Parts: sequence; C-alpha cells; structure tokens
Amino acid sequence: MTNTAINFEYIERAKRGEFDLGWLKDNKSEWGTKPTISKIGLTLRDISYGSYGDVPDNPKLRTMAPRGSDIDPDVPDMGYTVNTKMEVWSDNLLDLYEEAVSRQWSATRDIPWNQLPELPSDIEHSICQLATLLSEVEMVAADFPAKWLWRINHDFVEAKMFLCTQVMDEARHTEVFRKRALANGGGLGKAKAVVEQFLKLILDAQSYDEGSALMHLLGEGIVLSIFRAGEFLSPSDVEKRIFRLCMQDEARHVAYGTMHLKYRLERDPSIAEDFHAYLDKGEELMTVLFTTPEVIEPMAILAAGGIKQAEEVGVFAADILRQRIVEEYLARCDKAGLPRRKRINLPAEMLTGIATDD
Ligand SMILES: [Fe+2]
Ligand SMILES: [Fe+2]
Repeated sequence: MTNTAINFEYIERAKRGEFDLGWLKDNKSEWGTKPTISKIGLTLRDISYGSYGDVPDNPKLRTMAPRGSDIDPDVPDMGYTVNTKMEVWSDNLLDLYEEAVSRQWSATRDIPWNQLPELPSDIEHSICQLATLLSEVEMVAADFPAKWLWRINHDFVEAKMFLCTQVMDEARHTEVFRKRALANGGGLGKAKAVVEQFLKLILDAQSYDEGSALMHLLGEGIVLSIFRAGEFLSPSDVEKRIFRLCMQDEARHVAYGTMHLKYRLERDPSIAEDFHAYLDKGEELMTVLFTTPEVIEPMAILAAGGIKQAEEVGVFAADILRQRIVEEYLARCDKAGLPRRKRINLPAEMLTGIATDD
C-alpha cells in the first residue's frame, strides 16, 4: 500500500480510540528548546537554531518538507533544479527579509498625490518619460525571481521568502511609476526596443547565476543609482517621496545580489570567469542605454531644471549621473569580489572620471 491510499484499517482502529501516535513518538526535533525573542519580535534569525538553522550545502531531498522536520522516506520529488546553497544564498538574507516585511508601503496611501504641482510641460514630459522607463523595467525584477522561485530547493526557504518580498516590492514600483505618469495630466511616454532587449537578456538567462548577476547587480544597481539621484531629479516633493521609498526597497535587492555573488565566489572562485562573461554582455547593452535619448534626455532635463537650462548644463548633468551609475556599479563588483575596473566593457569616453585600476 502506498501512503497515498486510504487506510481503512486505521479508520476502524481510530473509531476504537486506538491512535497511532507515531508522529508524536518519532519526533526527533529539539523539543523543549525555546528561541530567544529579539526586541523587535520573533525573527528568522531567532529561530535559526539547531537543525532548523542548519542549511545544507547540498540537500539530499527535493521536497517541500520544512527544514528540520521529520520527513517521510517516500516524499515525492518536486523537480527542483537549484539544489546547491551557494547558487542562491547570502549571509544577509534573513535580515533583508525581516526588513522587507517591516517596511512595506502603499503606492496608493503613502504618496501625497494630491500635492502634485502643475509643472512646466518640458518637466512633466521628462518625468513622465522617466516614469515610463521605470514602470517598464521594474517588472522584470519580479518576473525573473518568480520564474526561478519554484526551481529553488525548499531547504533554502529563506532565499525563496526574500525573493517573494522582491516580487511584491517590484509590483509596487511598477505601480507607483505608472501612477506617476498618469497622475498629473501627462501620461505614458515611449518604450524603447533596447530597453526590452536588456529585460529579455535577464528573463532568458540560462541560469539563476546569470540572471542574478545581470539583474540584482547590474540592472537594479543602475536603477538604485537613479533613485539615489532622485534628490536632484525630482521636480517636486511628491517625486522625492517616490524615489526615497523605492530606494529603500531597491537597496535591499542590490544588497542581496552583491552579497550573494560574494558568497558564491568565495565558495567557488573558479566560476568568476562565467560571471565576467555575463557582465560583458550586460555592459554592452548598458552602453546602448547610455546613448538612448529617451533614457538620457529626460534625466538631463530634470537635473538641469528645464530644456533651456539643459542646453547649457544638461550634458554635464547627464555625465555626472552616468559617472555615478558606473562608479557605484564598479564599487559593487569590487565588494562582491569580482573586480571589473580594468575589464569594464564601456567605451573610453564613458569612463572619464572613473578609476579603472583594480
Ligand atoms: Fe524596483
Ligand atoms: Fe529591485
């Protein structure tokens, strides 16, 4: 008899009050051990003790059974394909998850939409075009983790949970920029093929390694730098608030990506060349993005404060922003243990002011 068949004999015994109680006697867990509860509440770190906190490098099973539970010997295989811890893990995962669930916000309620001022047409056009771009790119950072989530072994459940928070964060980012484009009488601008090509590169990645490097490290890194620049890109306090709230979320995604790559490379340095190759490809498209008017010009106009001013200082402002994006990206690569300063695949004219020695 398989354990999915109905056990009629058991039904008869149970009627007589003869319980099995095997589940009670077999319990091998740390019965009687209590976690120490943190000041903020019971955290994932608090319950990571004993067998519960022991995340195997190479789980033997491909099951959804909770890590640390007593598992039936004939549980079905779920078909997971990401079965080594170093493929998804990072040392900051548990804390990032806690932060993510405690800092959720609402794009409906937490943005003072009714305080949006009437803006000059060139500024409204620019913020709408930037919001179009951001609304477009944000959702890939939900689609990519969602595509890989079910393939990740359940023993890495904290990684899966963190990626779930990222999916929710990105839904909200897509929402808030879509709302900004429509909120002030402007509307959506132009969606460019080159942007879609970059998103496709992430979505079509052959491995979680490849997609995570392109997305968490490169793509979201660029977006984080743009959010950070929100102080001088925002025409009003409403956009400042939007950028600030998105920045909190985005910083978590990039912090995961950076520390995950570090974790990965420390355990298997031989794979560094593969990551270099993924980023070579990604940087090629980054170069094209930096020369796409729909990407660069709205930011230049916003930074300069209008088209007229942009004619004088816009190129300079765009250069500063690009420099900041590239420098922050290279700093993240350094931190992850994948120095790319000598190797970065950007034309020399885009590297002025950037340290290109490791
Ligand atoms: Fe985002
Ligand atoms: Fe993100």
